[in-house]
Amino acid sequence: MALVVQRLSDLISLSISHIALNPILTASLLWVLTKGPPHIRERLFSRFASLRDPRRHGQIVKALKWFLAIGLTKNINKQLSNMSLNAWRLKSERNRWIWSQEIAVVTGGCGGIGELVVKRLVTKGVKVAVLDIHGLSGGLQGYSNVHFFSCDVTDPAAVKSTAERIRATLGSPTILINNAGIVQAHSILDTSDEWLRKIFDVNLLSNWYTVKAFLPDMIAKNKGHVVTVASTASFSGIGLMADYCSTKAGVLAFHEALNQELKHRYNAPKILTTSVHPNWIRTPLIEPFEKALVAAGNPLLEPEDVADAIVRQIESCSGAQIFLPENANRSALLRGLPSWAQETLRSGVSKKILPSAPEYKSG
Ligand SMILES: *[C@@H]1O[C@H](CO)[C@@H](O)[C@H](O)[C@H]1NC(C)=O
Ligand SMILES: *[C@@H]1O[C@H](CO)[C@@H](O)[C@H](O)[C@H]1NC(C)=O
Repeated sequence: MALVVQRLSDLISLSISHIALNPILTASLLWVLTKGPPHIRERLFSRFASLRDPRRHGQIVKALKWFLAIGLTKNINKQLSNMSLNAWRLKSERNRWIWSQEIAVVTGGCGGIGELVVKRLVTKGVKVAVLDIHGLSGGLQGYSNVHFFSCDVTDPAAVKSTAERIRATLGSPTILINNAGIVQAHSILDTSDEWLRKIFDVNLLSNWYTVKAFLPDMIAKNKGHVVTVASTASFSGIGLMADYCSTKAGVLAFHEALNQELKHRYNAPKILTTSVHPNWIRTPLIEPFEKALVAAGNPLLEPEDVADAIVRQIESCSGAQIFLPENANRSALLRGLPSWAQETLRSGVSKKILPSAPEYKSG
């Protein structure tokens, strides 16, 4: 039942935003109804009798004006958001990017989303340096543009020396995709000290190491694209995922600060930045509660969806904050809600994760 309601509400909001909130449609209709050529209006009025009633006509025109205003506001907001994340540039950066000459670094590129991103980039002709502690997977063998560098991204010295090897063999990278990440569901009391260090090292601190290693060359050219793979967990603390949510909140703060420094400190506003916030992705982690998620109307993302979105953004030669699916942008609004609503929403998610970790046993 909840699923049906959810689907219906999705359908209604989709058609509202596609039709009623499309300013071109509402403006055209408004023009036809008020200032259009008499013969078209006559035809419309004879088709739709209610339009002949001046009161109904007035109501429809008023509603159309509202839809036009809301539709315009939405579109203007979208454009402003895009421009603000691109240092208020009006001109596209496309002419500065030649894919066969670009070099990308992908951390955690030997599996999952990382591997899919690597494949898509090499297909475009980009040379890709894959940084991972796991060896190159079978799927990536045989691509001449894939260059594997065995590197533990949690070790700053290793990242630094790997960056030197990449510059010496391939050249200086213009694309950095900070994708390496780990996740596990467990309670705070069940988190080992070892795991805690590891997840902060991989998911968060590695971003400092790679940015320190690769950003200076990008600054020198005032060209580059840094992609941060975050999560909708950047916006909320969820039970059994305290460590993961903390790293993802941290990595978003890192990303935002990087964007500020590019503009205000390094004078390199043409370096593009993109943060990616996927909601639930089909992975072994969520298997225990996959059914519950789907039943509650959460569409699961495939790793391919995330890889496609990352590469599409790189191809667009512009920076962005991407939510997957698009309506997961709601998660960013959470902290603006009253506490009771925040707690209710967080509880809903935490309860779904409960089955995937052992119960707490005292003593
Ligand atoms: C965002 O702006 C850039 C120009 O900076 C443009 O190339 C890109 O297509 C825009 N993206 C969207 C989704 O409008
Ligand atoms: C969130 O994304 C939807 C598209 O799914 C869009 O219509 C809406 O305006 C966005 N909301 C915000 C606050 O950006």
